[in-house]
Amino acid sequence: MEDLNGRVAVVTGGASGIGLGMARAFGAEGMRVVIGDIETGPREEAVAGLTAAGTEAIGIACDVGDQGQVEALRDAALDAFGAVHVLCNNAGVAGGNAGPIWEAPQDDWDWVMGVNLQGVVHGVRAFVPAMLAQADGGHIVNTASLAGLMHGAGIYGVSKQACVGLSEALWRDLRATGKPVSASVLCPAWVRTRIMESERNRPESPRAEVEIPAEAQAMRDLVAGLIERGLDPEDVGRQVVDAVRHDRFYILTHPKWNGVLEARFRTILEGLDPVPVAPEGEDFPFE
Ligand SMILES: NC(=O)c1ccc[n+]([C@@H]2O[C@H](COP(=O)([O-])OP(=O)(O)OC[C@H]3O[C@@H](n4cnc5c(N)ncnc54)[C@H](O)[C@@H]3O)[C@@H](O)[C@H]2O)c1
Repeated sequence: MEDLNGRVAVVTGGASGIGLGMARAFGAEGMRVVIGDIETGPREEAVAGLTAAGTEAIGIACDVGDQGQVEALRDAALDAFGAVHVLCNNAGVAGGNAGPIWEAPQDDWDWVMGVNLQGVVHGVRAFVPAMLAQADGGHIVNTASLAGLMHGAGIYGVSKQACVGLSEALWRDLRATGKPVSASVLCPAWVRTRIMESERNRPESPRAEVEIPAEAQAMRDLVAGLIERGLDPEDVGRQVVDAVRHDRFYILTHPKWNGVLEARFRTILEGLDPVPVAPEGEDFPFE
């Protein structure tokens, strides 16, 4: 989709971080923007900021884990702007249990998979038929993660691998229609966002207070530091604009980390254990 000026983008999780970075980058291209997000205050601030920058924008309360709310988001966008040309299924959460995967409570699975995978499924089911029906087509961008292409790690990794698989299937099925609707999957490494505070949006449910083992806490602190020093979300937003414009499927934002993908397939092909290998120059204690 080369000409973005005047077109309409819907961004879930657009009130913060990567979503807001994409919203700003789309606004800078002259697009009209709809932010769907569960958090009220940041959503209103995001819309005010976009409007102040000269972007026509609205915000809609939406929990992507609920199909009905995602359909309502689509209807609100169509009512306001008459079409949706770009949908970013971006809302996502990290968190929950820090121990072995068999100890993760069902509630953790339901929350993380409900947002990171079902949220994307809901977006695809609600918006793709509308895009296929419009003459000028559309583009879906699903935010996975580099974790979605690496050896599996925790519920988050499982949800992101599933998001990559869903996106690849979506791309193939869209291509088969012969219509001008396409898809991309965004796979960043560290980006400077509030992802480490994801629990702020977790639905209330009775949960036992669990003590985080010292080793797991040390790993969390390390990741928090890497995220704090991560890529500027607007830089990611501009890379997404470029991928939509040139219809590029895989959006890899951290070239320095690409080596971890080569290492993954080497371990598979050589029959080695599924231990990720950090690329040269990147110090990360995978083992
Ligand atoms: N930050 C990173 O280093 C990084 C790396 C790879 C992938 N990602 C992915 O990027 C996406 C955006 O995360 P971020 O890093 O910008 O974090 P963030 O916490 O800054 O932003 C996430 C946004 O999603 C919203 N959200 C959470 N649950 C929601 C729900 N149920 N319905 C609707 N909105 C909801 C939040 O309110 C927030 O505005 C996520 O899918 C995340 O997994 C982040």
